[in-house]
Amino acid sequence: MGVEGYNLERAKRRGIMIMKKRPLNNFAIIGAGMVGTAIGFLLRKTGYKVIAIADKSPAALKRALQYTGGETFRNPREAVLEADCILITTPDDAISSTCQKIALCPAIKGKFVFHMSGAGGLDLLESAKKAGAVVASIHPLQSFSSIDQAIQNIPGSYFGVTADKKAQLPAKNIVRDLGGIPFLISSDQKPLYHAAACFASNYLVSLMNAVESIYQAIGINEKDAKKAYLPLVYGSLKNIDNSGSITSLTGPIARGDFGTIKKHITAINKNLPQYSSLYSSLGLITVKVAQQKGTLNARQAKTMNAILKGVKNEHTK
Ligand SMILES: NC(=O)c1ccc[n+]([C@@H]2O[C@H](COP(=O)([O-])OP(=O)(O)OC[C@H]3O[C@@H](n4cnc5c(N)ncnc54)[C@H](OP(=O)(O)O)[C@@H]3O)[C@@H](O)[C@H]2O)c1
Repeated sequence: MGVEGYNLERAKRRGIMIMKKRPLNNFAIIGAGMVGTAIGFLLRKTGYKVIAIADKSPAALKRALQYTGGETFRNPREAVLEADCILITTPDDAISSTCQKIALCPAIKGKFVFHMSGAGGLDLLESAKKAGAVVASIHPLQSFSSIDQAIQNIPGSYFGVTADKKAQLPAKNIVRDLGGIPFLISSDQKPLYHAAACFASNYLVSLMNAVESIYQAIGINEKDAKKAYLPLVYGSLKNIDNSGSITSLTGPIARGDFGTIKKHITAINKNLPQYSSLYSSLGLITVKVAQQKGTLNARQAKTMNAILKGVKNEHTK
């Protein structure tokens, strides 16, 4: 397991404290994928006990066991019996049905049931709540592309916490013990909160994939392309961190360089038409940012929008 950098000593010291002061100590994890396994590892290292993990895949259970310890189960209802807190980390679409299964278990009464979905609200846990459980969602605003990477990235990450009143403090405490920073978010806010997270993470990845494809189309291989464009990306992120997204905008749209944008559009339409609509959609948003920055006036913005939408008139020729 590649977990260098994780402060085991500090975690152990904190773990001892947790075991002394909290009744909520024994976890069952249902769904032994990226998130369940990484969070299980961090819970264990922080002093909580992962007493059970459940998954329908024996291979997933075998892999998770090395990180989390605990007893493995195929049936989630068996996994929850001894736990104080149950973390449902199946794919989003399976959370509600998984919860319904464990809610049939009489022992669920008084236990804490959490899920970790970004878009899902507490409605997904309604069956457990009706059966007397206390419910919450703790969503790490972080991407889990591999278990080891996630273990490294979680400390310092923000977690959207959506919780019943009774679960709010325990949920926040678990997040803090994982090294995260909790912030409250309502069930209603979650779809938009998560859509924004998709822009920041998943669509950023897809955007970088488009950048690499464009470079490959002119004969630059993926490795060299990455070396060349990543300093530009990091520089832009640093600018955003220092001065915000509006001030950080540079480039031909911010300058009102119509000719350059026309050249881009012609080249993309000719060579990589699959990116034409992406280029124009992002361009239209960029025009709005440039106007907010104050470098593009209303007339220039109108012309730029027409070029980006492919409208043929005297300004766009
Ligand atoms: N990945 C991220 O970056 C990220 C970030 C924040 C939050 N989350 C949230 O974390 C949760 C888990 O995501 P993930 O990325 O860890 O997904 P994942 O890697 O696909 O893991 C889900 C695991 O649950 C298992 N599973 C599916 N249906 C099940 C069922 N009915 N009972 C028991 N196990 C079942 C899957 O088995 P099979 O593979 O055999 O189907 C898989 O092992 C989701 O709610 C997601 O929204 C993910």
